[in-house]
Amino acid sequence: MSGDSADPYDRYRDRTPASAELSERAKRVLPGGDTRSVTYHGPYPSFFTEASGATVTTADGETLLDFLNNYTQSVLGHAPEAPVEAACDRLQHGNDVAAPNEDIVELAERLVDRISSVEQVRFGNSGTEGTMNAIRGAMAWTERDRILKVEGGYHGTHDTVEVAVGDESAHEGIPDSVKKRVDAVPFNDTEALKNRFECAGEEYACFILEPIMGVGGMIPAEESYLETARDLTAAADSLLLFDEVMSFRLAPGGAQERYGVEPDLTALGKLIGGGLPIGAFGGREDVMSQFHPETGGLKHSGTFNGNPATMAAGAALLDQYDADRIEALNERGDRFRERLQGIGDVSDRPVRITGDGSLFQIHVTDEPVTDYESSTAGEPPLEDLFIRMRNDGILLAPRGMGNLSTAIEDEHTDTFLDAFEEAIDRIPEANSTTAV
Ligand SMILES: Cc1ncc(COP(=O)(O)O)c(C=O)c1O
Repeated sequence: MSGDSADPYDRYRDRTPASAELSERAKRVLPGGDTRSVTYHGPYPSFFTEASGATVTTADGETLLDFLNNYTQSVLGHAPEAPVEAACDRLQHGNDVAAPNEDIVELAERLVDRISSVEQVRFGNSGTEGTMNAIRGAMAWTERDRILKVEGGYHGTHDTVEVAVGDESAHEGIPDSVKKRVDAVPFNDTEALKNRFECAGEEYACFILEPIMGVGGMIPAEESYLETARDLTAAADSLLLFDEVMSFRLAPGGAQERYGVEPDLTALGKLIGGGLPIGAFGGREDVMSQFHPETGGLKHSGTFNGNPATMAAGAALLDQYDADRIEALNERGDRFRERLQGIGDVSDRPVRITGDGSLFQIHVTDEPVTDYESSTAGEPPLEDLFIRMRNDGILLAPRGMGNLSTAIEDEHTDTFLDAFEEAIDRIPEANSTTAV
């Protein structure tokens, strides 16, 4: 158990010899032995061989309970039957044709029916493409080339949105000309937002934000903040762009339905592909009509845009992930976060749990967590917590973020809570460093 006095990283190495070997092999051909920054952790990540329902099996033969779910994407757990069958069926009947098919329309109809602010939608292959194309659409619509975002707000890996994420070293390779076109404001600070719009509101093509800031600490927006954002963008003829790549899981119509504020444009990704790569952007018909091939000026191409197997899997997933299931998952998530906070309240470390519904983030701090600056996501104590929980068979993000899928049962959440109770008192104090 995590109560063991052994160094948790030594325990990790002892448990994962096959992953260590695979990692050495991978390092010859992949920088760091991996191909996704966020899945890397020290001393090396575990390689997985299979995933089913709530569990992941590793190359070392371990079975882990998955509370990470591919960073919120696997909302029905791994290999859910209907989406897998739909994708396989499509692949067997020919998938790679340069022409539209009905599967694209089926998924688009489901999204337009569910999200009241989305009148038309376009598909790509990643959330990054979703935010990139939505921003391009906003710039073309407003004829402006500056945007406003939130400090620490993550929206994928294209240049414009990588500004004001992480420290300066994370911005290497981004041209200064791009940085100059992006301003950032602290999340949940209504006064700062008003001041920014007073200074330069009419220069912004859009204000992009998540209704619940995910990577920056899983912090829900305060009600008045989103309403203020709506009013200020409208008054400045700027567009309000919600990134719902992560938060869409919170209601049939996304977090915008749950929080009651409608944006002009929405970016989507993750779960709507039913387990296959996807991104999407949609919103007001007048703005989206810029992408009409005959009458609009904007191009939007991609060999795998609207990949039929992805579309079929996504539609099958949304049919399963309906209003009743979403409500039940949110309620379970709310109870789970309360129980986590309860353990934190009696632990030796100051613990704050943030999140909403099935999304949660563990913070180690006495202070209220309202924005990127007050968030402790990713600080050394949380990496230590991650490796201890991992040694006890539980997967969450190294930065202390997690989420529930519908495959997670009460016995799994009980196991998580027991491991958390053991581990939390053993992590280093905040501001100390972790040896890896
Ligand atoms: C809020 C948000 N926006 C955009 C993205 C980018 O999506 P993708 O990784 O599919 O490019 C992510 C990915 O984690 C995200 O969490």
